[in-house]
Amino acid sequence: MKGFETWIGCISPKEMSTSRKNGSPGSRSTDARYFLKQSLSTPCLNALQGCEGIYIEDLQGRRYMDFHGNNVHQVGFSNPEVIAAIKAQLDALSFCTRRYTNRVAVDLAAKLADIAPGNLNKSLLCPGGTEAIGMAMKLARIATGRHKTISMWDSFHGASLDAISIGGEALFRRDMGPMLPGTEHVPPPDEYRCLFGCHDRGGCDLTCARYIEYILEKEGDIAAVIAEPIRSTPYIPKAEFWQTVRKACDRHGALLIFDEIPHALGRTGKMFTCENFAVVPDMLVIGKGLGGGIFPLAALIAREDLDVAADRALGHYTHEKNPVACAAALATISYIEKNRLVEHSAELGRIALGGMKTMMDRHPLIGDVRGLGLFLGIELVKDRSTRQRASEEAEEVMYRALSKGLNHG
Ligand SMILES: Cc1ncc(COP(=O)(O)O)c(C=O)c1O
Repeated sequence: MKGFETWIGCISPKEMSTSRKNGSPGSRSTDARYFLKQSLSTPCLNALQGCEGIYIEDLQGRRYMDFHGNNVHQVGFSNPEVIAAIKAQLDALSFCTRRYTNRVAVDLAAKLADIAPGNLNKSLLCPGGTEAIGMAMKLARIATGRHKTISMWDSFHGASLDAISIGGEALFRRDMGPMLPGTEHVPPPDEYRCLFGCHDRGGCDLTCARYIEYILEKEGDIAAVIAEPIRSTPYIPKAEFWQTVRKACDRHGALLIFDEIPHALGRTGKMFTCENFAVVPDMLVIGKGLGGGIFPLAALIAREDLDVAADRALGHYTHEKNPVACAAALATISYIEKNRLVEHSAELGRIALGGMKTMMDRHPLIGDVRGLGLFLGIELVKDRSTRQRASEEAEEVMYRALSKGLNHG
């Protein structure tokens, strides 16, 4: 990995050789000995021994602000209220066998129905976001009697075969053999680098949304449009984009499924990302920080009248109603509400975006800045007129930030 040496340079050569020789448990070298290598996970940057609030701490006791955090940090790492709820739940009921239910799981499903917009009132829980996306795809097939989907190039919905079939990142799809049939892809609503050239016409004129309707009409049997309402790397469409797609889905009998796994629960200055666009999807998928950044937990939240698969297995996951995970999620949502974190995110985001705009005035390397609450992005370009990506410079910024104690993606 390019730049890796720059980063491990933060660890002294003595520390490196000791760790290599001893291969102490939990060190990077022992990790490489026992874990299969895979892109984006290995080689490991460093080994951690602690995480708290906004910080991660390595084996040498160095602390880094973690702006990456795999998007699980709505309530901060090791949130004491979430940990207390988990400990109490471990003593009360630590597992729930399938076909049984339990109070915390029901309380969580009721809470999700309460906070989710519109008539998104029924949930299915599972351990991870990828599985929740798979359940949404299956429910869309059953509910519509159709199997085709429209999703976006460059999107990510998880790493399983069904998720990469609708995903649009080459890294995940390449060399993986045949994908699911009927998974059509469209260009994302990326105004800065619009494939339809809208930046030459003074900004987004919704050609990309009309193209989605064009496919819905031509195919005539699309089950669902599945998309991240905003994309971490990196676009934030205007509200009219989703409003146009919503209407098009309704006209052509397709469901709209939003993958809000990385940014629901307050990150964007709203509890759910779709609320920024005044659009309610037919299904909403959340995950990541739902378990407080401690327990793996994701949820498919669907329109009440989509409860149409009683005789099919949509998920059937062993930890479907895990009470400890549900207790973590209830404590997480309660912490977000009690501490008004959604409003806080909107306010901090406004301040940060203002600061980023000022930075842009000073640095020609910055081509654009974007933000929605604390979902923030800085586009680095070699030349503002050509908008050519400044990838090497972006990498250098990342490693310089690391050397100053800031970890980001
Ligand atoms: C938009 C999006 N969808 C789906 C997933 C997959 O979630 P998980 O890793 O919990 O399976 C991710 C994870 O990064 C994501 O960012």
